[in-house]
This record gives sequence, structure tokens and C-alpha cells, in this order.
Amino acid sequence: MNLNIALLAGDGIGPEVIDQAVKVCDAVAKKFDHQIHWKPALTGAAAIDAVGDPYPDETHEICRTADAVLFGAIGHPRFDNDPSAKVRPEQGLLKMRKKLGLFANVRPTFTFPSLIDKSPLKRERIEGTDLVFLRELTGGIYFGKRGREDNGDTAYDTCTYTRKEIQRLARKGFELAMKRSKKLCCVDKANVLESSRLWRETVQAMEKEYPEVAVTYEFVDAVAMRLVQWPKAYDVLITENLFGDILTDEASVISGSMGLMPSASVGEQIALYEPIHGSYPQAAGKDIANPLATVLSAAMMFEGFDLQEEALAIRDVVNKSLDAGVVTEDLAEGGKAYKTSDVGDWLAANL
Ligand code: IPM
Ligand code: MG
Repeated sequence: MNLNIALLAGDGIGPEVIDQAVKVCDAVAKKFDHQIHWKPALTGAAAIDAVGDPYPDETHEICRTADAVLFGAIGHPRFDNDPSAKVRPEQGLLKMRKKLGLFANVRPTFTFPSLIDKSPLKRERIEGTDLVFLRELTGGIYFGKRGREDNGDTAYDTCTYTRKEIQRLARKGFELAMKRSKKLCCVDKANVLESSRLWRETVQAMEKEYPEVAVTYEFVDAVAMRLVQWPKAYDVLITENLFGDILTDEASVISGSMGLMPSASVGEQIALYEPIHGSYPQAAGKDIANPLATVLSAAMMFEGFDLQEEALAIRDVVNKSLDAGVVTEDLAEGGKAYKTSDVGDWLAANL
């Protein structure tokens, strides 16, 4: 297969973890006889510095015309500590999601056999967890009207959803549930929020199209608790943008590290693959960050092209590296901590 992949390294540890994913993808391409053409493009703080825009038009053009996008991370403390900043790296990510129509973010949560005892949660609670969040990605409070009033002393952000936005996300949830264990949980806050009541009403109306799927409706606060108490209760979960952002960080604890969790952002056409973690600026340039979330996002990319064996090969070699203790410091626990680049080299060599 001939694959044109837009490569957006972004900020912080982004370039380092992306480099390892590229090594692994190139090794997969060699093994399975594919040609990958990487198309690097600027985004985030790096793009603000270069051209004053965190998602420049040239970058959008490269993404739009690629077969997929592989993305590192975005964010820089220089902006976090400056509430008055007019342009922010994160705006690039949001603009990119919106302009590419990536309305569904697929975030699987699973355990790695050799890491179960590294989780702060008890083995018997998490072993065998296999759930997927479908987080709505281009609506809600992230994109609603926001501003200041009262000479700046009052601030507001609004959460708005249309029935259509909910339907298209929910449809992906139902379809995924049909392929899995036919269980779907709609996470909302319908006891308080009007937007959540529209979510519930919309999903309820769709139930008759999928009579085999058992749907439950749960409040987000209760799910936050159940998720660490008994994650095996869940299979496919659908939720709005902000709830999904928060719950998926929480869910990463089940796997053992934020540095392990991949994701795919999908819409009508192009898909983007990105780790769920941020730019981890404290580690930038130190060659210590865990590249596995990005490597596993690349596995999801191959799956997106329906190249299942390739995806499996990546997951297998990742598991092997964990078993062999070839891990970065977040997972080393007193043992030998390998460098980011060492882990990438090991994975590519052992594929
Ligand atoms: C994520 C991140 C982003 C988000 C940030 C960097 C804007 O936390 O992908 O989960 O909130 O969506
Ligand atoms: Mg997040």
C-alpha cells in the first residue's frame, strides 16, 4: 500500500515520541511491503513561533490531502501561565479537529499483562478491562460561546449541542457496540444540564434502530467513581467533549500510565491518530518520555487502513518490550529506565 501520512510532531515531547512512531511504522512498512511517505507540517507553539498561527493553512492542506494524520502533542507552559495570551497552541488542535471534521475520538482502555501490578488500582479490579470511550470532539463547551462581561470580572463558557451532532457520535457508538459486546453506556449529567437531556433523548430515540444493544444511561460523576471501582462494568461509552476529556485521563490509570494510551479521531473522511497525553514540557528534549502511546496510535492507524496484521505486529512488539523491561522511567520503578529513543530502536529492531 502507498500511504501519505501527515506528520504533526507539535510541542514538548511531541517530536521525540513521533520520531519513535516513525521508526516503528517504517519497520512495519518494510516488513509488510508498504511505502509510507511522511509529510511533516507545523502545529502548536512551534507553528505560532514560525508563522503566528497554531494551525496554519499550509498544515491544513497537508492534512486534508493525506491518507491519515499522525499527531504528537500540543501545548507550551509559556502560554499556560499567561491568561492574556491571544493565540494559544491548543487552539491549533481544536481548529484542526473542527476543520478536518474529526467529531469522534476513540479512546480504548485496556490493561497490559506485565503492567497490571504497576497500576495503583488492585489487580482483581482492573485485570481484563477492555472498554472504549467515544468522546465527541468538535462540539460542546470547547466550541461554545465564551467571553467576559462586567469589565472582565465575569467569565462564561457555554455548552451547546445539536441533535445532529449527538446522533452522528451516538451512531458510531451503537455500531461499535454491535461489533463488541453489545453494551453501550451514555454518560451525561441529565439531572442538571439541558444539553445532557438532549443527549439522553436523542440516544433513547436511536435505541429502536439497534434492538440488540443494551443501553444504560449514567451520570458522569457516578461513572467517574465506577470507572476506578469496577471498570469491567463498561464496554462502549459515549459522551460529550469535556466529560470525555476528563474521564479518559482518569481511565489511563487503569493501564498504568498516561504514556500508554492511544487514540483515533475520526469523522467522515480523514482520521487523525494521537496519544491522549499532553506535551509534558518538563520532559521535553530529555529523551525520557514514554513513546508507546504514540506507537500504539500508529497501530490504530494501520487498523484504520484495515491492515490488521500490521497493527497486531505493533501491539505484539510493544507487549514484548514491556515484558522485557525495555521501558521509560515512568514504568521503570527502580529498574533500568531506557531512553525514549532506545525504546523506539528496540521496537523497530524487534518487529
Ligand atoms: C486531549 C487534550 C486536549 C483536549 C488539549 C491539549 C486541548 O487534553 O486531547 O485530551 O482537551 O482535548
Ligand atoms: Mg485531555
